[in-house]
Amino acid sequence: MARSVFVLTGAGISAESGLGTFRDKDGQGIWARFDPMKLATPEAFARDPDNVLAFYDLRRRNLLNAKPNAAHQALARLEQALAKRGGHLTLVTQNIDDLHERAVSRRVIHMHGELLKARCQHCGSVRLWPEDLSPSDVCPDCGRAGGLRPHVVWFGEMPLFMDDIDRALRKADLFVAIGTSGAVYPAAGFVAEARAHGLRTCEINLEAADNADLFDERRYGPASQTAPAWVEEFLGALP
Ligand code: OAD
Repeated sequence: MARSVFVLTGAGISAESGLGTFRDKDGQGIWARFDPMKLATPEAFARDPDNVLAFYDLRRRNLLNAKPNAAHQALARLEQALAKRGGHLTLVTQNIDDLHERAVSRRVIHMHGELLKARCQHCGSVRLWPEDLSPSDVCPDCGRAGGLRPHVVWFGEMPLFMDDIDRALRKADLFVAIGTSGAVYPAAGFVAEARAHGLRTCEINLEAADNADLFDERRYGPASQTAPAWVEEFLGALP
């Protein structure tokens, strides 16, 4: 029975908290309405920082009004229950929201960064930044203006914590992906790595992801229902 569980979450887990997903089948996803090349690349920020910062200001304000849902809460329960039984949960999210933390998950690996933090391009410092960002803001650490950007990973940049993620994947015995389309690498490739290391794999999603055929088990429906149901079933089966 699996006691070392690796969970990868994506935008779908936060959809019922009111935060939009990126690629909806109905064409209403964030990247259908906004051009990522104009908003989520280092080049776009260099060309038009006001436009890029305004986009993230809007997303940050939405996030501050959102609340975690039953799926985030179920994963926090899973972390505690596994720890009590000598097991371990590695929770890796592609989401830049803090809804896992607000559901009281203790350790969350944000491979695409965190919207409520800002990073200074001059000195590299990272700070909590729940307010709007402006090109004239001054870095509290180095005192220079014009370098503060959202602490998020943009297209063309390396995701964070890849070594930690690789180590955790090798140690786990079950891989679960929740609410992710399997369209963006390297996260979309984790399931293949997991299989190569001999892990069982489970997809929990609204509908089949692009890489659905790589999962041993598939559960489809809204995450606020499917994730808690899976967690209860999984914990109930532990000896
Ligand atoms: P996507 O928007 O690509 O996919 C969202 C997934 O969630 C889809 O498979 C939907 O079917 C599913 N979904 C939608 N509503 C759901 C619900 N209520 N319950 C369960 N599942 C639901 O989001 P990601 O896969 O997270 O990167 O996208 C990956 C990356 O692409 C993001 O982190 C972001 C984006 O570009 C960066 O910005 C670097």
